[in-house]
Amino acid sequence: MRIKTLILGAGAAGMMCAARAGGDCLVVDHAKAPGEKIRISGGGRCNFTNMYAAPENYLSQNPHFCKSAMARYTQWDFIELVTRHGIAWHEKTLGQLFCDDSARQIVTMLVKELRDAGADLWLQTSVVDVSHGSDGFTVRLEREGKPVTVTAQNLVLATGGKSIPKMGATGLAYEIATQFGLHVLDTRPGLVPFTFGADRFKPLAGVSVPARISNAEASFDEALLFTHRGLSGPAVLQISSYWREGEEIAVHLLPDVDLFVALREQRQQSGRKDLTTELARHLPTRLVEDLAADGSLKGRLADQSDAALQALCDRLKDWRLKPTGTEGYRTAEVTLGGIDTDALSSRSMEAKAMPGLYAIGEAVDVTGWLGGYNFQWAWASGHAAGTAI
Ligand code: FDA
Repeated sequence: MRIKTLILGAGAAGMMCAARAGGDCLVVDHAKAPGEKIRISGGGRCNFTNMYAAPENYLSQNPHFCKSAMARYTQWDFIELVTRHGIAWHEKTLGQLFCDDSARQIVTMLVKELRDAGADLWLQTSVVDVSHGSDGFTVRLEREGKPVTVTAQNLVLATGGKSIPKMGATGLAYEIATQFGLHVLDTRPGLVPFTFGADRFKPLAGVSVPARISNAEASFDEALLFTHRGLSGPAVLQISSYWREGEEIAVHLLPDVDLFVALREQRQQSGRKDLTTELARHLPTRLVEDLAADGSLKGRLADQSDAALQALCDRLKDWRLKPTGTEGYRTAEVTLGGIDTDALSSRSMEAKAMPGLYAIGEAVDVTGWLGGYNFQWAWASGHAAGTAI
């Protein structure tokens, strides 16, 4: 079978690409259903974009690479598409847009868009091997157990990253890119919970608190969640993408509260109150108990000198923690690194040294923050390649 364009991967980027590339285009995926990550994303409501998405919200060895595609397909373009399909949506927080009803609506919308454009979609189809010759790309597939060979002028790598292998994630895009001489940067899990040894935070599992979490590269003000195995919650997932093994993170609890002023006031008004009782007005009780376990938070408010209160506040402002690791690809929302952007045109996502080969979405070394940024990159890069094709 001979076609113009073969897209590997019917995820966010692949389907968007097919919707733009149109007729004589086939999308294949080994899964039973398209867009499985879309379906489970955002707790089943899909955080499909972010109103504030901008190149600053992405990690890449070349931070300029994403600019062109993102400027030519913005969050407003995707919002227009969603609205045109009658999908109701709302802003949850920090510009994060979610479906009112179900993430399935986004999958249905993309499948309709690609079919309306004349593209075809084959599921339960795996890739046996890929080669390139004077005819273009020859891809041997196995469709529902039967061999099929497809020759295509364009081959689009849209099989995503390594995150959540249980959902069908594979390193196929990296393998094919390497086969055709494209450089692939080391990958690591991003937007992933931290683990700590020896059940460090087990007694606090389930406790959530506003925090600012920073390292030398970045800082995020969002919720911190203690878990049975370590730390999670939006602030932790965000900083995890900037974290390297062996590094410390700095946790500033209650970044929006001037705790020193609040404690001093209370000392004046209710000096007989226990320090821990007062602290529990600001922080979850179980966290206060954990912080007091070393005997450092003793006595009534009236017993605390300014220096003691300041020392306590300094401790809560700069709590240094060294994760032992992360939960890895098993639960990571994204994969950092991947196909080196140096190998690709930022306008079309086409490989500079291999005309007709394209790479889009998470497989490329562009990784967004938590909050709808990763889907926006998938839409923008898919659109860029689909339009160029
Ligand atoms: P994607 O992973 O979507 O698609 C790749 C496709 O290729 C899949 O359909 C897969 O089956 C197929 N495939 C893989 N290997 C193959 C092979 N060997 N042969 C054939 N097919 C193969 N982002 C965001 O912006 N907002 C959010 O709310 C969330 N939420 C979220 C929750 C969870 C649990 C996860 C894991 C991730 C998110 N994300 C997110 C991230 C987001 O899902 C991700 O960045 C995009 O789906 C990436 O789009 P791609 O199309 O590049 O890959």
